[in-house]
Amino acid sequence: MSTFDLTRLLAADHFSTALRHDVQHGLTSEPKWLPPKWFYDARGSELFEEITRLPEYYPTRAERAILTARAGEIAAATRARTLVELGSGSSEKTRLLLDALRDLGTLESYVPVDVSESALAAAGKALSEEYPGLAVHGVLADFTTGPGLPPGGGPRLVAFLGGTLGNLLPAERAAFLRRLRAALGPDDFLLLGTDLVKDPDVLVAAYDDAAGVTAEFNRNVLNVLNRELSADFDPDAFEHVALWDAEQEWIEMRLRSLRAQTVKIPALDLPVHFDAGEELRTEVSAKFRRERVAEELTAARLRLAHWWTDDEGRFGLSLAEPV
Ligand code: SAH
Ligand code: TRP
Repeated sequence: MSTFDLTRLLAADHFSTALRHDVQHGLTSEPKWLPPKWFYDARGSELFEEITRLPEYYPTRAERAILTARAGEIAAATRARTLVELGSGSSEKTRLLLDALRDLGTLESYVPVDVSESALAAAGKALSEEYPGLAVHGVLADFTTGPGLPPGGGPRLVAFLGGTLGNLLPAERAAFLRRLRAALGPDDFLLLGTDLVKDPDVLVAAYDDAAGVTAEFNRNVLNVLNRELSADFDPDAFEHVALWDAEQEWIEMRLRSLRAQTVKIPALDLPVHFDAGEELRTEVSAKFRRERVAEELTAARLRLAHWWTDDEGRFGLSLAEPV
């Protein structure tokens, strides 16, 4: 018998109180910005899945190729009883890890953690049907502030895939890794997927696809603000911008106001003025080199035990352990 349950660790007013706070802070800053977790309402999660299938968006395919080649090794090295996944989304690539751990015979439970209830519920239900005997415990939580790691028998393998670590700013990343490390037991492991520095044209195309799906994904955050805070953004009055910051080595996503406009956010009693051409930063996606990954892990008292890339060297997968 397989089971699926979902624990909600987000406060009931998460989409009002926390969003309100972030919007108040970000839209009154200079330059304006918004944290990326607000992209992922049901529509945002759907659009992200579409992004993963775009010809320009290579990271999903590259990471899947590594997992296909290495899942057996990862299972053997970790002998995990519990697979925890942060920012699990559709849990699509995760099946490769679940298969390998099931074949080895150690796997008992899968704990996907995400802020998107629709993605979590759909993935949890599908997986509990596909994997008889597996206990699937979905956790609706914010991995940057949530209460440590959910319980589960050790050894635990904590997967953080898709390059999502790169969506945190360097200081947030350091704090996140330290907190995660503090929650790991001596037999636990971290499996970390990071996109790698490469030709800027390839990078920019991955975040500015010809079909305009990424543009729609980016603008969707304005629909979230309209729905949750009764704001009156006109998403069509903003254009999608993706650019490569060579110094920081990250892709930056912005929304550029096509005209001078003032947006009302009644829930905050806040008029927000945009000059024509003014940009709102919605996301960074840092690109890594092996040494940088190793350094950031070391700073969090984690040791890079294995490093794998796809054949073309586009994406890196690290297996790390506490020191
Ligand atoms: N791991 C999947 C999805 C990556 S997209 C893949 O590799 O394809 C990023 C995922 O992280 C989304 O499902 C989003 O809802 C989730 N997410 C983003 N910020 C989050 C946060 N602060 N806490 C929990 N989940 C978050
Ligand atoms: N973790 C993904 C990445 O950095 C998220 C992502 C992909 C994304 N495409 C995006 C975020 C476009 C914002 C806009 O690749």
